[in-house]
Amino acid sequence: MVKAVVLGASGGIGQPLSLLLKASPLVDELSLYDVVNTPGVTADLSHISSIAVRAPEIIQGPVAKRQQKITGYLPAEDGLKKALTGADVVLIPAGIPRKPGMTRDDLFKINAGIVRDLVKGIAEYSPKAFILVISNPVNSTVPIAAEVMKQAGVFDPKRLFGVTTLDVVRAETFVQDITGEKDPSKTVIPVIGGHSGETIVPLFSLAKPAVKIPAEKLAPLIKRVQFGGDEVVEAKGGAGSATLSMAYAGFRFAEKVIKAVKGEKGIVEPTFVYLPGVTGGDEIAKETGVDYFSVPVELGPSGAEKATNILPNVDDEEKKLLEACKTGLKGSIEKGVEFVHNPP
Ligand code: NAD
Ligand code: LMR
Repeated sequence: MVKAVVLGASGGIGQPLSLLLKASPLVDELSLYDVVNTPGVTADLSHISSIAVRAPEIIQGPVAKRQQKITGYLPAEDGLKKALTGADVVLIPAGIPRKPGMTRDDLFKINAGIVRDLVKGIAEYSPKAFILVISNPVNSTVPIAAEVMKQAGVFDPKRLFGVTTLDVVRAETFVQDITGEKDPSKTVIPVIGGHSGETIVPLFSLAKPAVKIPAEKLAPLIKRVQFGGDEVVEAKGGAGSATLSMAYAGFRFAEKVIKAVKGEKGIVEPTFVYLPGVTGGDEIAKETGVDYFSVPVELGPSGAEKATNILPNVDDEEKKLLEACKTGLKGSIEKGVEFVHNPP
């Protein structure tokens, strides 16, 4: 039985993400938490007749039909505790989004405290849950989550993930314009580093199968992946940032975590992890000089089982991108750690 929880469930990401989880055969119980509107969102989703069917390729044995349980809570009356109790996977899209002209770091002031307080709840009520952090700035909110879990004595680095899947989805989608490949998800493109601007490093030289990108199209393609978020923020003109594509990406990553936990083998996804706590991560931390980095991670029953070091395989242009990435990441990580130890 899998209980998934969405913290920030009434928001632009939270609602479509909850919809996808409601319709998923992998989720048996869904709990929604937000500071506003969860009764309405929960009532709405509860009318969906998604009698989910256990996918036989995931769970051996007879295919069982069942009705998914859904609950929703506000902060009053121990709402966070009730939402989190028994959670297996917690997705966090709570917090404010960008408006045109803002960087993700501009969100730190408000979102750092939101993530810290929600993760304190996870440490208390569901310390063994897999935590998927979506709230920006991811480069800082993941270190915040780790420090909170450490302070509570329940940090398991294999269970904490910064969700960078939207960068992977964008790389797949934008390269399709050039390759003409009909199914974008068939081209695997590692996107590593962090989740903002130049810390996002798409590695088109390592695409599988290999892609041929004309030299004059490569730099604009890389820029588009790095600044894809800005493209949406501008287009929405003050009404927020990516929500639907993020819900898709967040669900895609959550699905992979759940499948791996249930025993499916060979699932590898880029995600922003605490390197010293994941097998293979030490070597990458040494090479990058930072403790948090998104790399392709093999997922398994205990979560992030192995970090793959693909850094030696990148080409010379990508090496330059990585230098800019490391510089940008360092400060954001330190800022997150500092926030927990010396709150402003
Ligand atoms: P939104 O404003 O539409 O929704 C955020 C929700 O969080 C709101 O419903 C709000 O009530 C809720 N919230 C605020 N404080 C809370 C608290 N203490 N506890 C529970 N819920 C709380 O914003 P959005 O568009 O859904 O974006 C949410 C976050 O996700 C932003 O920080 C955004 O930058 C980030 N984001 C990340 C990625 C990524 O790739 N990781 C992609 C897109 C957006
Ligand atoms: C994105 O990449 O779309 C998100 O991180 C939201 C943003 O602020 O760009």
